[in-house]
Amino acid sequence: MAKKLFIKTYGCQMNVYDSARMAELLAPLGYAPTEDAGEADMVILNTCHIREKASDKVFSELGRLRADRRERGAENVIVAVAGCVAQAEGAEIIRRAPDVDIVLGPQTYHRLPEMVARATRARDAKTRFSRVTSEGMPRGAGLLDTEFPAESKFDFLPVTQDSPVSAFLAIQEGCDKFCTFCVVPYTRGAEFSRPVARIVDEARALVAAGAREITLLGQNVNAYHGEAPNGAAGGSTWPLARLIRELADRVPDLARIRYTTSHPRDMDDDLIAAHGDVPQLMPFLHLPVQSGSDRVLETMNRQHGVDLYRRIVDRLRAARPDLAFSSDFIVGFPGETAQDFEATMTLVREIEFAMAYSFKYSPRPGTPAAMMESPVPEAEQDARLQELQALLNAQQQAFNRAALGRVLPVLLEKPGRRDGQLVGKTPHAQAVHIEASPGQIGAVVEARITDLGRFSLRGDIETPPAQRAPRAMEACA
Ligand code: SAH
Ligand code: SF4
Ligand code: F3S
Repeated sequence: MAKKLFIKTYGCQMNVYDSARMAELLAPLGYAPTEDAGEADMVILNTCHIREKASDKVFSELGRLRADRRERGAENVIVAVAGCVAQAEGAEIIRRAPDVDIVLGPQTYHRLPEMVARATRARDAKTRFSRVTSEGMPRGAGLLDTEFPAESKFDFLPVTQDSPVSAFLAIQEGCDKFCTFCVVPYTRGAEFSRPVARIVDEARALVAAGAREITLLGQNVNAYHGEAPNGAAGGSTWPLARLIRELADRVPDLARIRYTTSHPRDMDDDLIAAHGDVPQLMPFLHLPVQSGSDRVLETMNRQHGVDLYRRIVDRLRAARPDLAFSSDFIVGFPGETAQDFEATMTLVREIEFAMAYSFKYSPRPGTPAAMMESPVPEAEQDARLQELQALLNAQQQAFNRAALGRVLPVLLEKPGRRDGQLVGKTPHAQAVHIEASPGQIGAVVEARITDLGRFSLRGDIETPPAQRAPRAMEACA
């Protein structure tokens, strides 16, 4: 009987990608995915360290899982903690949660099968549990692997056999920017780009396995500079724009390409031009700005000012007039004055975002900003966040309202919550609920937007006039 693997994923899309790869790595060991932690033989928490709350969740989830295992008498469940909290606090996890079997970082998960085999052997030999914790759980010596190994995990990953319609593909990882608030350069390590040929192979495998849309992922994706394919002209490394053009030209049936997350400083001329001339590249860009104040951007070490951001947005809009933007904002960064915050509000009013994420600054141990003076009082942070979110929500609603009544190409991705309904996405990444049959999953249909929900749209498939008659006749016959 297949063993069951439950993976809970926190944080960014890179973690979603990594979780899918971990599931693929464990399939040969007989683990099949489950959505129900209560029936799992192995649990992986793929964690995020970006803000304090994100990492706190890990310890509370471990507590919940422990209680669940005790209740169902399933002490043999293997528990692994992966991802960025594992990387940053691996030893602490082993100390605080002695029932965790495996702790592994984002760059060592290709070693998971070996670690699971070791953990399983240890259990079977009953050598692992010489003592029991005060809560009656076995206490063992968890395996810890949070190196940054010389080999690349990407060289050890199996070929994808099954893909969602909208798939992620990691092309770049790590970050050398060192924004003063951010843990990513420490948890993911130095910037690294995968070779073009490997990415094209993976894109083809994803499409063969059912993908129609691929989102190219990287913590700093537009800093991509991957080894050029053998014999290719134009230098030894290719930038992101060149990779996008290659995918658009060489991967038939790849209907849509997106990329995330970009840094404003790395938006080069060719990438801006690609938005104008690669039809598969979708007109939606996540371009975090964090703040509208030059002074704050400087202390954040973002390495650009507000004007550069404005200029890039203008140039992108000139290349592709229907391009819509999303962004990330941090409010209450140390030293942020009411005036600085007002500058952020002004920038938001000026750019008009289609959607955005906004966060209260959260000090992260070991980052330079955690030692900065003049913290903004929590009540003030809350007030600013509320004000910013009200504006961003209003902009998002206005953006969605503008779609009402229009006919848009929607990529149908998966079943919706109700029977007979599918969920798809517009070019601007808005979710649309549509009455359609499961056989249409993977198709791009023309849909008229009929209704607005809080977070999604509703639409009806527009039947082109030429097709109406034969369909009706078929139905009669
Ligand atoms: N690679 C992405 C960032 C990933 S983190 C980039 O460079 O844009 C996603 C977002 O989390 C960041 O854009 C930032 O807005 C937010 N964030 C990161 N560290 C934070 C912190 N210490 N406190 C609050 N928000 C933070
Ligand atoms: Fe973090 Fe800045 Fe790198 Fe983004 S660019 S991952 S915010 S250090
Ligand atoms: Fe979180 Fe790590 Fe992603 S800290 S946002 S999971 S890179």
